[in-house]
Amino acid sequence: MLKRTHNCGELTTTHVGQSVILNGWVDAWRDFGGLVFIDLRDRFGITQVVFEPDTGEALQNAARELRAEYVVGVKGTVAPRLAGKENPRLATGAIEVRVTELEVFNESKTPPFEIQGAEPNEELRLTYRFLDLRRPVLQKVFLLRHRLAQVMRNTMSAMGFLEFETPMLGRSTPEGARDFLVPSRLWAGHFYALPQSPQLYKQLLMVSGYDRYFQIARCFRDEDLRANRQPEFTELDVEMSFVEFEDVIGTMEHLIAALAKEFGGETLSLPLPRFDYHDAMERFGVDRPDLRFGAEIKDLADLAALTSFGVFQKAAEQGHRIRGLCAPGGGTHYSRKDLEGLTEFVGSYGAKGLVWLKVEAETLTGPTAKFFPAEVQTRLRQRLDAKAGDLILIVADTQAVTHQALANLRIRIGAELKLYDPRSFHYSWVVRFPLLAWDPEENRYVAEHHPFTMPLPEDLHLLDSDPAKVRAQAYDLVVNGEECGGGTIRCHDPNIQSKIFSLLGLTPEQAEEKFGFLLSALRYGAPPHGGIALGVDRLVMLYAGLTNIRDCIAFPKTAKGTDLMTGAPGTVDLKQLKELHVRVSE
Ligand code: AMO
Ligand code: AMP
Repeated sequence: MLKRTHNCGELTTTHVGQSVILNGWVDAWRDFGGLVFIDLRDRFGITQVVFEPDTGEALQNAARELRAEYVVGVKGTVAPRLAGKENPRLATGAIEVRVTELEVFNESKTPPFEIQGAEPNEELRLTYRFLDLRRPVLQKVFLLRHRLAQVMRNTMSAMGFLEFETPMLGRSTPEGARDFLVPSRLWAGHFYALPQSPQLYKQLLMVSGYDRYFQIARCFRDEDLRANRQPEFTELDVEMSFVEFEDVIGTMEHLIAALAKEFGGETLSLPLPRFDYHDAMERFGVDRPDLRFGAEIKDLADLAALTSFGVFQKAAEQGHRIRGLCAPGGGTHYSRKDLEGLTEFVGSYGAKGLVWLKVEAETLTGPTAKFFPAEVQTRLRQRLDAKAGDLILIVADTQAVTHQALANLRIRIGAELKLYDPRSFHYSWVVRFPLLAWDPEENRYVAEHHPFTMPLPEDLHLLDSDPAKVRAQAYDLVVNGEECGGGTIRCHDPNIQSKIFSLLGLTPEQAEEKFGFLLSALRYGAPPHGGIALGVDRLVMLYAGLTNIRDCIAFPKTAKGTDLMTGAPGTVDLKQLKELHVRVSE
């Protein structure tokens, strides 16, 4: 076998005159009659190799048979390219290899798309994922993903965390999503659940005294998929003993700083900005603020009360919120038709309309401007820090609708008005979430994060009297408006844990049945502990400048949860089902 001495990305003029062997795939070929050129590609780069007439007809003819994606080995001598023929875009662009020997390891069928051509459609890409993954743009992503995992491992290990593995076949732990279940062959009618996260195992490792745990863990959640969600995804999962809220946040900031340095190219100033959940909702309408730009949401109820606009008066009577934001440059950017588009857009989040006011040098203009007295216009401009050329946008509705409509509007105008550098990274913590959320469908409280979260000490007394008001010792890491991590301080006190289970609607028997092992462990000397999990796929997505999580996972699922390459999920033999005691209607 012609075994490589170098890869396809490393030869330069310093190698001129050396005899080398390269292995790789045929990226392109050019036949100039006398000269046959091949671009040879591997994950390190591309090298031009040339078959000259004096190498003999047999070798030249063999070269002429080569086609795209054939896998070959070539032996030859490194030579400088002719003056003017250098390719400055290639690391190897100053040289070529003059071939004396060729070995074809394997031929290739004509691929369904060109590896270096225009981006193929995603269905084709996922069907031929093994070819898609040959594309240099994707190879860059997976190199980054590898480096990210190394930085995580090295940083966590240097901070004294031990790497663990926890079971894939376990009991279901509720994180809010549906479980993937695995029927047991040995125990008819019994099921394992794939972990939604290693949550309970890592807590048990703290009870066992391992002090600091981490795992780059696969998690499985059977939920509706989105651009940033996959049914199986990867977390950097972390847990620490003898800690409080600040300790976990402070420790993780070291890791985030290491990531920012390596992948964002910046030295972070710590501590990171921090928002109370309620402040984040007020200022950004969501619990994951995109801090790459301003255009914050402001309450305008007091100014709205000074207008003669019927919509505002009615809203005030109904106890609704009246809130708005200023879109810098939006007044000159958006046409009348665009503004109708924005009105429809907020409509899709339930808003019944959108007040828009163009900010002119002296006045505000727009169909509803006449309702705003001059004095109110001035105060509105001041409140929103609006300048000539800007656009003021106001929604009056329930709190939930104003949150949703304005949060999404803000993200949209941020992108459309180019209010930020898409390659910049802005990190923050959102803290002190509500412990519980009311689920009207189930008619009970559900855990905002998960049921193992400790309330804020000052809110403990509300557990009995006003559970909805209890805030949690919880924190989310947000990067560029994306939730990239979440964690909490845990209930190490079995009594508080039992109380929370009962608030979630579990009887003591049910709690014992589902979480007996946890409650038992908490009664054998559980240290105070807490932790967090970072979304690895999402971090790769952000650092690689991508918007689709599928591009960050080697073998992802489609939005419908299928794998187009393997055909998963597939059917199985009746025999297999019978062994698993799964009854099917035949
Ligand atoms: P949480 O459920 O917040 O926390 O998950 C942690 C982080 O994982 C990422 N993430 C996802 N990424 C891709 N696809 C998904 N379907 C998906 N779901 C979540 C997010 C999220 O912030 N056990 C707790 C952690 C703890 O309390 O320590 C947990 O799993 O970036
Ligand atoms: P109408 O009087 O309903 O035609 O509305 C006049 C203007 O007010 C239109 O630009 C509507 O989009 C806007 N509007 C109506 N309802 C609301 C609301 N709840 N919040 C904000 N703007 C509204």
